Amino acid sequence: MSYKITIIAGARPNFMKIAPIIHAIEDAKRLGEELDYRLVHTGQHYDKNMSGSFFEQLQIPEPDINLECSGGTHAEQTAAILISFEKELVAHPADLVLVVGDVTSTMACALVAQKLHTKVAHVEAGIRSGDWTMPEEINRLVTDSITNYFFTTSELANSNLRNSGINKDQIFYVGNTMIDTLLKQRPNFRAPQIWNELGLQPKAYIVMTLHRPANVDEEDQLKAMIDEIINHTRDLPLVFPVHPRTAKILERLEISHPRLYTVEPLSYLEFNYLVENAKAVITDSGGITEETSVMNVPCMTLRDNTERPETMTLGTNELVGTNPKAMRPYLDQLFEGQWKTYKPIPFWDGKTAQRIVSHIVDLTANQH
Ligand code: UD1
Repeated sequence: MSYKITIIAGARPNFMKIAPIIHAIEDAKRLGEELDYRLVHTGQHYDKNMSGSFFEQLQIPEPDINLECSGGTHAEQTAAILISFEKELVAHPADLVLVVGDVTSTMACALVAQKLHTKVAHVEAGIRSGDWTMPEEINRLVTDSITNYFFTTSELANSNLRNSGINKDQIFYVGNTMIDTLLKQRPNFRAPQIWNELGLQPKAYIVMTLHRPANVDEEDQLKAMIDEIINHTRDLPLVFPVHPRTAKILERLEISHPRLYTVEPLSYLEFNYLVENAKAVITDSGGITEETSVMNVPCMTLRDNTERPETMTLGTNELVGTNPKAMRPYLDQLFEGQWKTYKPIPFWDGKTAQRIVSHIVDLTANQH
């Protein structure tokens, strides 16, 4: 009997994390390992821009099922996933449910699995911002409190888990699957349409992304932040692929400036082409700080905390904070050419998914 793994993907930042794991499972099967997987898309993100294009570009197979749990409040979305995924897992039992990252789908599916006595593996376990106002932090805490196998990206994640009483035999320090995808896809990056439309030049524009509720749900905060960025970026174009959540608020604010170019969310290969060639990235995302680090692109994070401090100590990321006035010294430093460079982060080497699958193969051996 094959060992059955149900893999969960729900929202944009999940897709680059599951792609290499699926490919590593397929490789292991070709080598004769008795593994099988079923891919469940919760439907949390559903637009082509936020989901479909990632499946195509990252060669992720069509999901076996889409639970179509999109929209609603956090409680509504969590509840919808709980109900649908329970039915799915009862109909298609698994030996292991594998969840990645920190989105609502991660937490909800871990909960369903554990209540059905199915083991849970969490990829990107153990990272903590300490900020309980972030929905992602609650998702991480809940997920890690009911996980059996913890696959981690950093030594700090390991120690967070050990300090919370997790047995060290359950912790597997494997690295970062998002970086597996980045390194594999880097030769395929391609210029988005706006590259030519705007006549962009390498290292002569800035990329911005903003989607965290703390930054975008308050109109005054969002406006102040964007104004400050515009005021201190000299003559550089600002390219801003806008997350759907942010788009709703931006529409009301009617911000416009000749150097500010808002565009739809970009596909993976196009977005990372822009990032790789940018002078800098200004963001409130966590995952992007990992990608900019590995590509050695200066990054400013508009948050007061990070669950990924290695992107600051070894990577190119600076934590600017959420006070718009804090931006200026960092931008000045950028224009003076004084930015730190990337020092390799342990295990962020493109082989994380292989390590995960080889640990799973060991688990199956112990089980039989
Ligand atoms: C979610 C994740 C966040 C992740 C982000 C990346 C949680 C708690 N948050 O936040 O960790 O960094 O995704 O994108 O899981 N929408 C669309 N089209 C889509 C998807 C969403 O229009 O394809 C709309 C939704 O209807 C909703 C809003 O965007 O109104 C927010 O989506 P939601 O999934 O609730 O949370 P995100 O802010 O995207």
